[in-house]
Amino acid sequence: MLEAMSKAKVGDDVFGEDPAVNEFQKRMAEMFGQQSGLFVPSGTMSNQLCIQILTSPGDEVIVDELSHLFNYEAGAASVLSGVQLRPLKGNRGMLYAEQVEKAIRTKNEWDPHTRVIALENTTNKGGGTVYNLETIQEIRGVANKHGLSMHLDGARIWNALIEADYSAEQIGAQFDTISICFSKGLGAPIGSMMLSSEENIKKARRVRKMFGGGMRQIGLLAEAASFAVEHHASLLETDHYRARRLAEIISKNDAFEIDRMSVQTNILLFDVVDKTAEEFLRILETAGIKMTAFGPQTIRAVFHFQITDEDFNVVTHFFENYVNYD
Ligand SMILES: Cc1ncc(COP(=O)(O)O)c(C=O)c1O
Repeated sequence: MLEAMSKAKVGDDVFGEDPAVNEFQKRMAEMFGQQSGLFVPSGTMSNQLCIQILTSPGDEVIVDELSHLFNYEAGAASVLSGVQLRPLKGNRGMLYAEQVEKAIRTKNEWDPHTRVIALENTTNKGGGTVYNLETIQEIRGVANKHGLSMHLDGARIWNALIEADYSAEQIGAQFDTISICFSKGLGAPIGSMMLSSEENIKKARRVRKMFGGGMRQIGLLAEAASFAVEHHASLLETDHYRARRLAEIISKNDAFEIDRMSVQTNILLFDVVDKTAEEFLRILETAGIKMTAFGPQTIRAVFHFQITDEDFNVVTHFFENYVNYD
């Protein structure tokens, strides 16, 4: 990756003159069947550009209650775009058409205007679950019927594409705006991208500048992200296998509770029975294992391709032998 970065041909991206960025944006847009792309520093910025482009102040965006947009973007949609999010309780972070349709507001003058349905695939707080295409198509049907836009937070779309039976183009066709990330499991140091129509991307360039995300000679970052897509996407399969294997081990240990059905990609959520998440994290740390607290007794483990076989053996050995001492 570093070698690819060092060979990048760069220019001023605020002027649209960085050849590496331009080429990468074009390639990603083509891959997802969208007209155009815009490289940005983070997934949060990419999501927020999409919300800004699709809405007006006073609008409402339907999301799952576990979505990143609702939980982890510091209230940005309200602050930056003046919209409110309408969180629905879906299934492991995923919505279905019937509940979305029921949540659409009527057109009274006192109602917020439902404007966008935002889906996350794979889900983060839902535990890495993957939408199937039929569900997305049904939700798209609802959006079309009511004149709504559809946004995809595809921060981990690469993981979904490994497990699902649809292509990037097939899923891309269902959405008006898409956010994809290169800095999660793919392992680029930075970078996300908004994908949409030429017209929306033209508007988004201005908003990106306004949000402070206009960058200059960043071809080397685009090369890193491009390298990650080309060389790392196929490695994610091992992460999925390891997450499932660890879920199996955890399910056999009485000290934990786990919903194995939710372990579909590289994320694994489980509960610690007799300890708080923070207490358990400290025990993990002494074994050299790093996970995250995702609730009072809930732990999130995320697999990535830099984890070696030896590292994984340490993890499996720990969970096979863990006994809940007080
Ligand atoms: C589903 C999802 N969307 C968006 C983001 C935001 O990405 P970033 O941290 O690059 O802003 C994340 C980050 O973890 C995420 O999990």
